[in-house]
Amino acid sequence: MSVRVKGTDTAIRIRWIPRYTALERYLHWGHTLTFILLTMTGMVLFFPFLAPLARGEAGQFMRLVHRISAVLFAAVPISYAVLQPRRLLLTLKELRFGRDDLGWLKGAIPYYLLGRHVDMPPQGRWNTGEKMNAVILVSGTIIFVITGALMWFGKGVLPVGVFQAAVIIHDLTMFATVSMFIIHFYLAVAHPLMWQSLVSMRYGVISESYAREHHAKWYYGEERAKKLYEEAKARAAAQGKAD
Ligand code: HEM
Repeated sequence: MSVRVKGTDTAIRIRWIPRYTALERYLHWGHTLTFILLTMTGMVLFFPFLAPLARGEAGQFMRLVHRISAVLFAAVPISYAVLQPRRLLLTLKELRFGRDDLGWLKGAIPYYLLGRHVDMPPQGRWNTGEKMNAVILVSGTIIFVITGALMWFGKGVLPVGVFQAAVIIHDLTMFATVSMFIIHFYLAVAHPLMWQSLVSMRYGVISESYAREHHAKWYYGEERAKKLYEEAKARAAAQGKAD
């Protein structure tokens, strides 16, 4: 695809690389929407200063929206497993952490705050931060489903201690997942280095140059990506000495 540079006659060619299937994108937005509804209604039930909204008809409405959203929220991973099981397995395999992820943790602050590209080791289709986000959300979803079901069907049936434990774990999971969601939202929507991640979740593709820079292990393969990274580091060190 060619794109004309604004205000000039120059055109640049962009090669787009598929990153997400259409189903993955629909499920991502479905999970996001239901998560936001669950957070809003959950907060009404949690925070004492919102208590007036949790009483009477308003409270019934909040609880109904929470339950309907919860069913749709749980349906997202189930739909993925049923409709694209092989793709789900591939994604889960890619979420495994390794020694290379320590490099991302070390390079994250210089890279994301100071734009120091040379400090960021090559990443796979998911970088370490994206993997951490996915792991917290996947485990959070499982914990929400279990504790939410206990609260939904266990009131008056379960021993009080078990019911209260479910409520506390449900609340703590909300704090963990909402914190991760805020970081994820900021990086995807506002961070200048990451804007193409939002493009990929909208259209399913990323540009070749973005793939090379942000997901080199996926684009080049592990060995070549590491070689190029070491060469870039050596060049930067030599340049630093020369300056
Ligand atoms: C499948 C997922 C979920 C299920 C089945 C579920 C179910 C429930 C149920 C049945 C309640 C009790 C409502 C009542 O008082 O009648 C509840 C409360 C609550 N939920 Fe969820 N929920 C889910 C996901 C979430 C998510 C994603 C969040 C926020 C990120 C959340 C936050 C809360 C909070 C804060 C409360 C109030 C608990 C309290 O009283 O301290 N829930 N949930």
